[in-house]
Amino acid sequence: MTSRERFLAACACRLLERPPLWIMRQAGRYLPEYRALKSSHSFLEMVRTPELAAEVTLQPLRRFALDAAILFSDILVIPEALGQPYRFREEGGIAMEYRLDSRARIEALAPAAEVPARLSYVSDTLALLRRELAGKHALLGFGGSPWTLATYMVEGGSSDDFLQIKSLFYQDRASFDLLLQKLTDALIAYFRAQIAAGADAIQIFDSWGGIIAGPDYEAASLRWIKAIIAALPKDFPVILYAKGTAPHLFDQSFSGARVLSVDWTVDLRVARDQLPKTIALQGNLDPVLMNLTPEIVRSQASALLERMRGQPGHIFNLGHGILPQARLDCVQALVDTVVNWKS
Ligand code: CP3
Repeated sequence: MTSRERFLAACACRLLERPPLWIMRQAGRYLPEYRALKSSHSFLEMVRTPELAAEVTLQPLRRFALDAAILFSDILVIPEALGQPYRFREEGGIAMEYRLDSRARIEALAPAAEVPARLSYVSDTLALLRRELAGKHALLGFGGSPWTLATYMVEGGSSDDFLQIKSLFYQDRASFDLLLQKLTDALIAYFRAQIAAGADAIQIFDSWGGIIAGPDYEAASLRWIKAIIAALPKDFPVILYAKGTAPHLFDQSFSGARVLSVDWTVDLRVARDQLPKTIALQGNLDPVLMNLTPEIVRSQASALLERMRGQPGHIFNLGHGILPQARLDCVQALVDTVVNWKS
């Protein structure tokens, strides 16, 4: 069985000899070969140049026996394509070129129909990868959720308190809905382009879903995600990762997503026992373990595998992105443990 077949079988909730494995943010700063390439090219240059983006995507697969490749890009290419560019702050975090601080600025965003052409480098990268991978590994596309993208656009970058986006949600719902509808339309066009270019599955990152007041999660985030999934080809595998939203897992299982990717605070076996058997689960080791020791990684990964023994539809992953300080010997220990495990 190829890695791609293993990955798609897990999405379809089939019981496997071992779960497929990939790692959120598997291409990035913890890899010396990524840092080497970044010493001569900026992040944005790498993202916008299909040959470089494809090379970075493949770096983790050359080193580790991972089952899926995830497109090297960023969720912030969508605001950029709509006319709001981003950069990285010296001190860490994101700065948008300006804040979406008025209805006029929301209205001035580019039409969704222009997004695929403005992000044609993403389609070109996926097509290159599709050829390189030759059907052996699964190829994942991704994007941010409308809510998570709106937080960056309305806050003007990374935020601590999310005051501006919450103020828009509670004080001017019409403008909030206008922005989220524009993002929803842009993401539908973007994901359709990724599927046309060869993505096997798409992961939606609702990284900031967990900061919304519980009763408002549907109106602020989940309803827009549902609208996106409903507009994609029927039965195309969508993975929903919403950090810090364990109380909403049951609602998310009716979002249309085939896979729910959960953070490390969730007991994956409890989630498995409570959710419909048609939903696959992805996760969920604490990413911090990758900064500790191979012994700890081996024992924690084995414990998770044992807890999920006999449960179909598990994709092994971390509960969030791997950190820049992760140790290569810890990642190797994770890969060895999962790949050599027998159900
Ligand atoms: O998983 C992968 O390997 C694919 C690549 C990927 C990146 N960003 C590359 C990246 C993915 C899937 C993303 C998604 C992303 N980007 C999210 C959602 C996922 C999550 O972690 O919750 C978010 C919130 C962003 C926005 C973003 N981009 C942030 C907050 C940062 C860090 C800024 C900082 O403080 O340095 C980025 C930069 C970024 N995106 C890097 C990478 C490899 C690091 C850039 C560098 O090399 O310095």
